[in-house]
Amino acid sequence: MNAAADISDHYSQGGLLARLEANLRKDGVDPARPTLEELAPYDHFHGRGLEATGDMANRLPVSAKDRILDIGSGLGGPARYMARRFGCRVSGIDLTAEFCEVARLLTARLGLEDGVSFDEGDALAMSFEDAAFDGAYSMNVSMNIADKRALYREIHRVLKPGAWLCLSEVAQGPGGEPEYPLPWAATASSSFLATPETTRADLEASGFSIESLRDTSSEARDFAARSRAIVEAGGKPPHRAVMLALGERAREAVANTGRAAKERRTLPIEILCRRV
Ligand SMILES: C[S@@+](CC[C@H](N)C(=O)[O-])C[C@H]1O[C@@H](n2cnc3c(N)ncnc32)[C@H](O)[C@@H]1O
Repeated sequence: MNAAADISDHYSQGGLLARLEANLRKDGVDPARPTLEELAPYDHFHGRGLEATGDMANRLPVSAKDRILDIGSGLGGPARYMARRFGCRVSGIDLTAEFCEVARLLTARLGLEDGVSFDEGDALAMSFEDAAFDGAYSMNVSMNIADKRALYREIHRVLKPGAWLCLSEVAQGPGGEPEYPLPWAATASSSFLATPETTRADLEASGFSIESLRDTSSEARDFAARSRAIVEAGGKPPHRAVMLALGERAREAVANTGRAAKERRTLPIEILCRRV
């Protein structure tokens, strides 16, 4: 199996829409008419879910006339959030066909299809023309990509000069290799974690200047503590995207995620930079 097929096989097992609709019904939500907020526990597939998307958006210089790119757009929660919040156009691209299909359907159910689109494709060879976008972001995607410089060069190509890029990723921490499975990879063979220092160097070598690089571990710990308190009080965890996408495989992946963060084998980071 090639790397791309390996990745989409990890994320997709079929039946995603039916599982999502069943979950929404259990939440008391009509799956034909969900709101952005009702979908949010399921369609922001990254650490801290909607909260992290909102934090990232707070730092982005987006205006309503902008066209922005979501690299590895998943089920499309972040893209719909950005479009609703800023009134901008958002193009998503993702390797996993089932995620793109569900992303389009949910976008139509929210009436956002005029401004938000999803293409099935590889972030390493995008079909967009040069200098097409005013900005781009990517949430928890580069961990699946071995050749980071090839990724950053391709993003550089599709951005206008001076455009912003924001990455929210899981970096390799000082504590050693994490144990697998993790939410983005069943084994180490499809996981490529870079340290914050290497990420900075790779971005700079690919034509970006770094404006900020933040370790968001304390936000992640705080979110985990609040989630635990909700569950102990009998509520549902606020972030259910990993369970939805990976099903039974999620249990071990989530346990390993907590352990890896605690032992500083992984570090959540957020980087804001500019295309030179
Ligand atoms: C953990 S999910 C994050 C999805 C989305 N960014 C979010 O935060 O909701 C990682 C996503 O990256 C996508 N992905 C991984 N490698 C990719 C590549 N080379 N090109 C495009 N998408 C990729 C996967 O298909 C998956 O949807």
